[in-house]
Amino acid sequence: PATISVKELAEVLGKKGSDLVMALMKKGQMLNINATLDFDSAAAIAEDYNVILEKEEEKDIMETVFAEEEDDEKDLQERPPVVVVMGHVDHGKTSLLDAIRHSNVTKGEAGGITQHIGAYTVQIDGKPITFLDTPGHEAFTAMRMRGAQITDIAVLVVAADDGVMPQTVEAINHAKAAGVEIIVAINKMDKPSANPDRVKQELVEYELLAEDWGGQTICVPVSAATKEGIDTLLEMITLVAEMKELKANPKKKARGAIVEAQLDKGRGPVATVLVQNGTLQVGDPIVAGAAYGKIRAMTDDKGRRVKKAGPSTPVEILGLSEVPSAGDSFYVAESEKQARQVAESIIAKNRENLIKETPQKVSLDDLFSQ
Ligand code: GTP
Ligand code: MG
Repeated sequence: PATISVKELAEVLGKKGSDLVMALMKKGQMLNINATLDFDSAAAIAEDYNVILEKEEEKDIMETVFAEEEDDEKDLQERPPVVVVMGHVDHGKTSLLDAIRHSNVTKGEAGGITQHIGAYTVQIDGKPITFLDTPGHEAFTAMRMRGAQITDIAVLVVAADDGVMPQTVEAINHAKAAGVEIIVAINKMDKPSANPDRVKQELVEYELLAEDWGGQTICVPVSAATKEGIDTLLEMITLVAEMKELKANPKKKARGAIVEAQLDKGRGPVATVLVQNGTLQVGDPIVAGAAYGKIRAMTDDKGRRVKKAGPSTPVEILGLSEVPSAGDSFYVAESEKQARQVAESIIAKNRENLIKETPQKVSLDDLFSQ
C-alpha cells in the first residue's frame, strides 16, 4: 500500500511541515516530520483540512486504461440521487434508514453497530433514491470518507438530545471536502430532552446555518422512532436532487464504486457495488484494484437475481478473484484478459511500493514509546 511522510503530506496540504507536526501534536499524535503514514491515516488527517487524498498510481493506471468517453447529449438520462446517511455513532443512521424503508434491520445488528455500509434503493412517490448507510464507529473513518465521495447528497444525522459530536464534525468535513450538499436530520425529536435549537446553534460553528435562521442549510426535525418528519426529509431530498439534474449514460460500459465486500465461504468474494455510470451486466469482465473477474451472478438490494444494473443502482456481484477494498472504483474492461492485465499491473505496483517501504529504521525512542 502507498505511504506518505508527514513532510510530504504538509506539502500536499499547503502547510509548513512544522505547523502540521504541531497540529498533530495538539491532537495527541506525536509524529516526527519524517514519519511515514499509511494511506488511510494520511487521508484522515487531510480530511481535517478539507482535502481528499487519492491513491494516485492506482487511479492513474485505471484512468489511462479506462478513459471516459464523451457522452452524446441524447444518451444522457436522468438518474436517481445517491444519498449517504452520516453522523455520530448511535445518533440513529440505521434507524432512520430503517424508518424510510419500513423494515427492521437495526434489531438484528449485533450491538446496534452497522458492520458495513449497506446500500438500498427506495421508491419515493415512484421516484427511486439510493441510500448508503455508513457505520459510526471510529475505525470506519476511511469508509465514511469514501461514502461521501460517491454520493450526491449527505444526510447528516444529529441526535437532538446529544448535539454535535466528534464524528458529526468528521462527517461534515468529509461531505464538505467531497463537495456534497448536506441536509441535516435532527433525530430523536420524540425524546423529552430533545433540543433542536441547540443543535442548530452548534452547527453554526461549522458554517451550516439553518434556513429558518436565515441560512442555506436544510434542517429537518425527525424521529426514527415515531416516524415524525420522515416524509418532510424525503421531500427535501427529492427537491435538492431535482435541482441537481443528475444524469448518466446507461448505454456505456459501467463504472462505479465498491461499497462493501467480503469473502463468503460458499460463494467466494462477494461485493456490493454502486453503478455510477453505464450499465453493468452479468458476464461483464471487471476490475477493481487488484481484484478482477467476470460477473457470474448479480442480485439487487431485495435479493432478486438481476441481469443488468443501471446508473445509481446498488447490486451484489459474484465472480471476483479476490475481495476488493470498500471505496475502490470498478471498471468494466474490454475482455477478461484486459481486466486481468490491469489488476496484475496494480498488484505489481503495490508490490514495488511495499519493497520500497520495507527497510525502516527503528530508533530507540520508537522501541520505548509502545
Ligand atoms: P451506528 O451504526 O452504531 O453508528 O449507530 P446508528 O447511528 O446507526 O444508530 P442506530 O440507528 O443503531 O440507533 C442507535 C440507538 O438510538 C438505538 O437504540 C435506537 O433505537 C435509538 N434511536 C434511533 N433513532 C431514535 C429516535 O428517533 N428516537 C429514539 N427515542 N431513539 C432512537
Ligand atoms: Mg448504524
